[in-house]
Amino acid sequence: MGTLKFEKPHAVCIPFPAQGHINPMFKLAKLLHFRGFHITFVHTEFNYQRLLKSRGPDSLKDLDDFRFEIIPDGLPPSDLDATQDIGALFDSTSKNCMVPFRNLVKKLNSREEMPGVSCIVADAIMTFTMQVADELGIPKVLLWTASTCSYMGYLHFPQLVERGLVPLKDESYFTNGYLDTRIDWINGMKDIRLKDMPTFLRTTDPNDPMVNFVIQQGQRAFKASAVIINTFHDLEHEVLNAMASMLPHIYSIGSLSLLVNKLPISGLNAIGSNLWKEERECLEWLDTKEPKSVLYVNFGSITVMSAQQMSEFAWGLANSNHNFLWAVRPDLVRGESAMLPEEFANITKERGLLVSWCPQEEVLLHPSVGGFLTHCGWNSTLESICAGVPVICWPFFADQQTNCRFACATWSIGLEIESDGKRQRIEGLVRELMEGEKGEEMRQRALEWKESAENAVEEGVGSSCMNLEKLINNVLLVNV
Ligand code: UDX
Repeated sequence: MGTLKFEKPHAVCIPFPAQGHINPMFKLAKLLHFRGFHITFVHTEFNYQRLLKSRGPDSLKDLDDFRFEIIPDGLPPSDLDATQDIGALFDSTSKNCMVPFRNLVKKLNSREEMPGVSCIVADAIMTFTMQVADELGIPKVLLWTASTCSYMGYLHFPQLVERGLVPLKDESYFTNGYLDTRIDWINGMKDIRLKDMPTFLRTTDPNDPMVNFVIQQGQRAFKASAVIINTFHDLEHEVLNAMASMLPHIYSIGSLSLLVNKLPISGLNAIGSNLWKEERECLEWLDTKEPKSVLYVNFGSITVMSAQQMSEFAWGLANSNHNFLWAVRPDLVRGESAMLPEEFANITKERGLLVSWCPQEEVLLHPSVGGFLTHCGWNSTLESICAGVPVICWPFFADQQTNCRFACATWSIGLEIESDGKRQRIEGLVRELMEGEKGEEMRQRALEWKESAENAVEEGVGSSCMNLEKLINNVLLVNV
């Protein structure tokens, strides 16, 4: 690929193309840009079009040293307003993105006006990129965008298979109590049951593509120059320490949001990564409410539910008598557009607001928000921790069950609703969180975690700041 020019470091940042992965990668790219890196940020064509639609062309404008590039995701065209099928994306990115990615890096290296690519920073489930880094002899860094506890779970999938725990023997094992089996042999993970592990193990197929994908991506992490995790030491120190003895080059540098919020205002502030248009008016609505009086409800970008479950949530919220701000994505209900009963709208006119997508981090930091009913996606969980807001957990899939277990049992900031939670149960938990003694204890605990999260990003002394420093100096700048 010719002689490379490294007068300035140049990081190519490539997220997995879903909202919960793009956000943290975008923040990491901003941090590296601030530290003097030229950045190429790689979107898929599909997400680029979505960003154009939701945020307009200004949000994707190239700056001199922060540029966007696109590659195809290999999937057929689909509705720009809906989340792509995640399983199909796992399969397609791992099979189809390597060649266009390699061609892109080659093209970047042939450009006179920019420095040669000096490192690749890829999502930890986009490990095909490591081959391109190897071909160039540059650092290959992975960003694990979720919790360390869930990563630890994924990294133990080979052992779950070896021990005969996965695949499940037959369909009855989903419901016969088997998932309550205790897993007491993973260092750093206390009080864990099979059902708290990432959900992809819930299969009876000995050749399950998701299990194979997880194992393949996890194994490759052992060859990375570094694995970055969006968490902070105090929150996950036991599992981080245990993981460090398996994967020596891990760097916990979260919360990326808190670090980015400390950056000075720059041209990058106009650029964002939300794939949906944010309904910012909800912040004004929150201004009209009493402190800590609103339950914020949001299930992230991927979760889907049945119309029946949606109705249980609606009535649980209505009957709790508490204020709520509920983000209902148009594709939240499986197979149909999300419709709420008419009586519900009447009952809640006074104290409920529905939006389709909101500026979540700002919402969580709003003084009127007193609790968060969440699917426990890692970004949502960490954002809630950083805002000092306790949670009600309704985990949907993947890492969310693990995050839920830690939120409830280890961090003591959460209460869990079963997957088929009925309205009375939901109402009860909302009341407990918003007005009960347990809710108050969890709120205090959440505020303590907020303080720890802030300490972790304290300039020069916080664990995440120091880890970021080490990552940049010891790994990302080695060639420059
Ligand atoms: C996915 C997975 O589901 C999750 O388990 C994994 O940890 C990361 O990838 P998602 O389901 O979208 O993500 O949830 P989450 O991780 O919480 O990320 C959602 C992001 O979108 C958050 O950063 C949140 O602030 C943002 N968001 C969400 C908004 O800005 N507005 C909204 O209305 C909803």
